[in-house]
This record gives sequence, structure tokens and C-alpha cells, in this order.
Amino acid sequence: MDDGVMDSTIRDLALAPQGQRKIDWVNAHMPVLNYLRQEFDRDQPFKGKKVVICLHLEAKTAYLSKVIQAGGAQVVVVASNPLSTQDDVVAALVKGGIRAHAWHGATENEYRTHLNHALDFIPDYIIDDGGDLVSTIHKERQELLTKVIGGAEETTTGILRLRSMEKSGELRFPMIAVNDAECKYLFDNRYGTGQSVWDSIMRTTNLVVAGKTAVIAGYGWCGKGVALRAKGLGAQVIVCEVDPIKANEAWMDGFQVMPMLEASKLGDIFITVTGNKDVITCEHFPAMKSGAILCNAGHFDVEVNRVELTALAGSRRIVRPNIEEFTLRSDKRLYLLAEGRLVNLAAGDGHPAEVMDMTFALQALSLRYLAENAGRLKPYVFRVPKEIDKRVALLRLKSLNLNIDSLSLEQEKYLASWNH
Ligand code: ADE
Repeated sequence: MDDGVMDSTIRDLALAPQGQRKIDWVNAHMPVLNYLRQEFDRDQPFKGKKVVICLHLEAKTAYLSKVIQAGGAQVVVVASNPLSTQDDVVAALVKGGIRAHAWHGATENEYRTHLNHALDFIPDYIIDDGGDLVSTIHKERQELLTKVIGGAEETTTGILRLRSMEKSGELRFPMIAVNDAECKYLFDNRYGTGQSVWDSIMRTTNLVVAGKTAVIAGYGWCGKGVALRAKGLGAQVIVCEVDPIKANEAWMDGFQVMPMLEASKLGDIFITVTGNKDVITCEHFPAMKSGAILCNAGHFDVEVNRVELTALAGSRRIVRPNIEEFTLRSDKRLYLLAEGRLVNLAAGDGHPAEVMDMTFALQALSLRYLAENAGRLKPYVFRVPKEIDKRVALLRLKSLNLNIDSLSLEQEKYLASWNH
């Protein structure tokens, strides 16, 4: 048995062949990462370094882990959410020499134990999604603060947490905000979330979307994508938003705009994508139509208040995988998908491979940037360098065989001067 198998905590190694087929499928649809894998293989930017990756452990993440491994790193993976882990994919990783501490359906306690097992590896670099790894290091594993050279954060929620740590002077190593790159939020948040959320709702419920009223809470890049796809599927779309500018944007994009309490009476499907807690609570459940479907696409399971829904319900049962029926005392039935955890990963496979190809190329190149600048970056939150963002965009165009024009010298001069 090799070290990877012995040093891992996973469900079942025998699932590896099935997981490997899933990884092979996404690999064939991630040309940018394929290109970077060859480059990393040649240049060995992470030679002798240890990397802990805390992401949703499905096939695309597995392929990113292989790319980092190809760059010379020893890699450990750990879940960023207890319900998004695919045990067969994790088994395939372990078979391929990557250590893993994760299984699907981990309890809160197991989830935290897995994070700590991964950190026992003493990483030089980390990749985080939602900030749990960074916060565990800062709160519980402070002996690692001087060991970690830096890391990259995947998502809006994690970056909010990092910025708050930076502001209070508590962040102790540099982190790159991958979510804020244009090649991330313009494609992953908008088209990735837009497609994968509806894919998961449709495969979980097996119900029609056309003609239904979809209520989308939050009109950031993810919310915009979910609303756009709802419209394309033939739903009537209502947007609930607390930011007056974004609310105007939603209105001019052609959607109804109203507070959640009003929308509660009208909606058939509710999707929260705000990053905040208590977006749908006991104030709203009684106003909803019987049969309403509720789900969340934000990082944490705090947007639909499941504790309050449970307290209101006389009874509760699972009616299909990932669908929990709550019967209120008024006999009204409400249906919560995937326990209120992010529906596209807990009840689906996450974003499409081509979209994650760009996001994970940003992750891989950000990690390489950190390695090349080791010791030179202060403990702040950094943007992904513009050249990396542009490079990912160009590699993606190249993989699509798309050419674009470039500026002539005269045009560049014209844009750079005020004197015309
Ligand atoms: N697959 C892996 N990580 C993901 C993420 N953050 N969002 C959607 N799909 C993913």
C-alpha cells in the first residue's frame, strides 16, 4: 500500500475505477488545464512543495489536483462542503497518489476532523473555497501561520471573510482572490451557476420549469446567471435584492423586483444566492403556496432557515433523494432541496467542465504566481494579476479555435493620449 492510501481517510478505495472514468470525462473537456498540465510537468513550479486543496471534491477539482501534482507538488485534498464530496472521485485520487480526507455526508465533527488531518500535512500553499481552511489555520492551527507561504480563494463568500481578516489585521499570509478575476465571475458565477443550479433542480425534482414563478434572492453575478437561465426555461422571474443599484439592474433586465415577503406569496421555486443568512425565514414560510420548492445556491446553508422551517412543521419526510417535505400545521407542504446546502453541488455535479476549466486555470496560475513570488508578498488579499486573467482568456479562445483582432500601434497611441 502506498503512502497516499495509508494517509487518507476516505469511504471506499474500490470505487476508484468509477471515479477515474468521471475524471477522464472532464479531462477531455478542460483544454486550458490540459495545456497547463504540460507546462507544469516541464517547469515543476511546485517541486518539493506541499499543497492542501479544500474544494468541492468532484471530478473537475480532481483534475485540478492532478495538474498541481504534475507541477511537482505533494497534494492533499479535503472537502469544502460535506455534501458535495463524490466518494468515487476521491477514491480515484487516492489511487493516483494524492492523499484525501473526505467522505460524502460527513458530520460537522467529521468535517472538522478531516480539515485538521489535511492540515497535519503542514502545507506550503493552500487552495480554499469558502474560507474554512484559512479560518481553521488562524483559529485552531496557529503553529502553521509561519509555515504557509500563501494561498488562493475560490469564492465570493471566502473573499468576504478574508477581507474582514485583512481589515482587522488578522490575516497572516497572502491570499489571492480568484473569484475577483474577470475570467472567474463573468463565466463561472454567471454561466456556471446559472446552468448548474437549474440542472440540479430539474434532475432532483423532475418537474417542469416553464410557466412556474421563480424567485431569485440576490442579483450578484451568480443571481444574474440563475435569473437569465430561469427566463430561458420559460419561468416568470422575480428578483429580491437589497442593493438598490442591483435591483434597478434586475428591473431593466426585464424581471419583477419586490421584497421577499411579497414574493413569498407568488413563487413556485425559490433560490437564494445572496451569501447572507436568514434570507427566507419563519416570516416567509407561512405566506408561501403549498408545494413551493426552496433551495440555496450560496456557499453556506444559512440562507434558507431550516431550523425555523423544522420548528414550523408538524412532520417531515424525504420524498425523493435530496427532497425533504415539510408539512406545516396548516397542512401546507414545502419542499427543501439538498438540506438547504448549495444545490448545484449537493444535488448535482457542480459547474460544467468547460467553465471550471477557466476557473481552475486561474487557480493553478495563481498558485504558480505565489510560488514565484514566495516571501515577497505581504499578508494581504491580492487580485489575480491581469496578465494571468488575460492569459486564461486567450488560452480558452485558442482551445475554441477563435481568433480576435488586436490593436494597431496607432490605435494604442490614440487610446493612451488625451490630446486628439
Ligand atoms: N466544482 C468544483 N468547485 C466548484 C465550485 N466552486 N462551484 C461549482 N462547481 C464546482
